[in-house]
Amino acid sequence: MTSPLPFIDLQAQYRRLKPQIDARVMRVLEHGRFILGPEVAELEGALSSFCGVRETVTVASGTEALRIPLMAEDIGPGDAVFLPAFTYTATAEVPCAIGAEPVFVDVDPVTYNIDPAALERAIAAVRREGRLKPRAVIAVDLFGLPADYAAIGAVCQREKLFLLADAAQSFGASQGNRRVGALAPVTATSFFPAKPLGAYGDGGAIFTDDAEKADLYRSIRFHGSSNADRYEILRIGTNGRLDTIQAAVLMVKLEAYPGELARREAAAQRYDRLLPAAVKRPARTASSSSAWPLYVTEMAGRDRVKASLAKLGIPTAVYYPKPLHYQVAYARYGAGPGSLPVAESLCAKVLALPMHSDLDDATIDRIVAAVGDALA
Ligand SMILES: Cc1ncc(COP(=O)(O)O)c(C=O)c1O
Repeated sequence: MTSPLPFIDLQAQYRRLKPQIDARVMRVLEHGRFILGPEVAELEGALSSFCGVRETVTVASGTEALRIPLMAEDIGPGDAVFLPAFTYTATAEVPCAIGAEPVFVDVDPVTYNIDPAALERAIAAVRREGRLKPRAVIAVDLFGLPADYAAIGAVCQREKLFLLADAAQSFGASQGNRRVGALAPVTATSFFPAKPLGAYGDGGAIFTDDAEKADLYRSIRFHGSSNADRYEILRIGTNGRLDTIQAAVLMVKLEAYPGELARREAAAQRYDRLLPAAVKRPARTASSSSAWPLYVTEMAGRDRVKASLAKLGIPTAVYYPKPLHYQVAYARYGAGPGSLPVAESLCAKVLALPMHSDLDDATIDRIVAAVGDALA
């Protein structure tokens, strides 16, 4: 048997970038400004240029990047935050953590992103019931593909709701001629190590063109202090800062990022071309590009294929095995089985194949052949 493959090969990436990363990290160890050191401001400037936004506020994680903007909008008890049922728990955890309630919305069967028509119906239902006040929508760019921001933005404007993009999985993707970060009024991303742009620990960032909001986010990430005087406490905040060492690592990785995006796009195209016809490829839309954090297929007999590949040392993953309204923690916010049929059915079919920037053609061919054998 050939050697087991990594699902995401962070070691190969480190080998490629080692001299620059080591030098950058050493510099931080030498200057010793571990919290909000110069690399943090440098990274924020570089991220703003990359995304085409005025302001970037780096934070401690993708979860904090979602929570801080909701805190800044004063969202809390009695408020409804609409989000897709087919996403990672963090998207729903954040409104709950500040006392608001998540309202789960079904997703589009092609893009897997929140369905704008279902969103409108969910908002109308909450207004009719009158128990909660609709306040915000979190649109998720699932598996790297931006959500339909034209349609969702129009709904939010009409309904006067705060739109927050959860771009934890889509940093570097684009829609029309704009990059993720500039597709919604406020965007949150994650630098979790396995994310498209990953740190060597937790990290995240908030992107916006609104300087006032960015100042508020900077205050909240530093215990609600005044940005001019850290011992002047203006509001309830949190410890939500990105470590300087992580900013240094991310500076190196950001420089390499355009090349990595191109390599993942090429890998996705090779999968698209070579996988057997019975495998449904990830969606592509005319106006968007994906960041390809994962290559998520759909197939009948998914669990059998997964087991066959595992025997050959080929790791795969199921994102996500359950829609959020099926999870114990969130069941009380949902309407149970059958209420969000698209999200429910996807959980039984999806299978993510290995995807990363150092995936070579021969490895893709080995994976494709194994999928073909398993389906035969
Ligand atoms: C869709 C989504 N939102 C939010 C997060 C939270 O990011 P983090 O792990 O950096 O807190 C993640 C990933 O973990 C995610 O996949």
